[in-house]
Amino acid sequence: MTPISGTTTTLYGGAAHRRVTILDLKAAKTAGEKWAALTSYEQMTAEIFDAAGIPVLLVGDSAGNNFLGGENTIAVTIDELIPLTRAVVRASKRAMVVADLPFGSYESSPEQALETSARFFKEAGAMAVKLEGAHIPTVEKLTAAGIPVMGHLGLTPQSLHQLGGYRVQGREDGDAIFDAALALEKAGAFAIVLELVPAELAARITAALAIPTIGIGAGVNCDAQIMVWTDLVGLTAKPPKLAKAYRNLRKEISGAAQEYADDVRGGTFPTAENTFN
Ligand code: KIV
Repeated sequence: MTPISGTTTTLYGGAAHRRVTILDLKAAKTAGEKWAALTSYEQMTAEIFDAAGIPVLLVGDSAGNNFLGGENTIAVTIDELIPLTRAVVRASKRAMVVADLPFGSYESSPEQALETSARFFKEAGAMAVKLEGAHIPTVEKLTAAGIPVMGHLGLTPQSLHQLGGYRVQGREDGDAIFDAALALEKAGAFAIVLELVPAELAARITAALAIPTIGIGAGVNCDAQIMVWTDLVGLTAKPPKLAKAYRNLRKEISGAAQEYADDVRGGTFPTAENTFN
């Protein structure tokens, strides 16, 4: 399958007929190729992003405040994310689908994390999991069990209350984040999301690691970038500074809904074309 963009590189061409693997992502880093990841929470966006050649789809716990109507990611449960992950897996052909482990589903012990991850693998078909923070024994346990782990450092939204809000991390304690990144790599993580950290710190971590860094509000020097899909297309009511809206779907969808309602009120929908004899 040729991605819509037509790009041919290690990732976009090399893995065109099968799922992207952690080895492909490592090869992209070695080749100096940057790539773009997106979140997805259901069938339609998974189909579209997969066909567009997005190599990694994250079923993020950001579903909580972008799909499930919550204020933040904290209340999201395993049982809510499993059907969303299953839909994204079913609707995609070549993207690696990563399941985000929700708050409270992995922090107690490596055993708890393994049990949760196994559910995402067996019930939804996820190909990797992501967890926030430097849970080193847990990453060791999961990778030893055959579960690829994506780390997540910097602003970790599940710790929103502990961090005192959505604030840039690592301005004062950059070395702690740097050390955590090295430890995650050593424990077996295949990639690390760096969220809302100074660009200089992200660049330093990216240069020090053999595994890819995936930035979100972490500057242009990360190996990859990730964006919440509703931010990408301008659906989010108040998009964060770290995102760029490439389209304004909020306006488009609102316009479509208003035109449709006008047509129904005015008797101009349905037309003969939409009518059966
Ligand atoms: O849940 C999510 O969308 C994420 C990304 C912001 C990396 O964790």
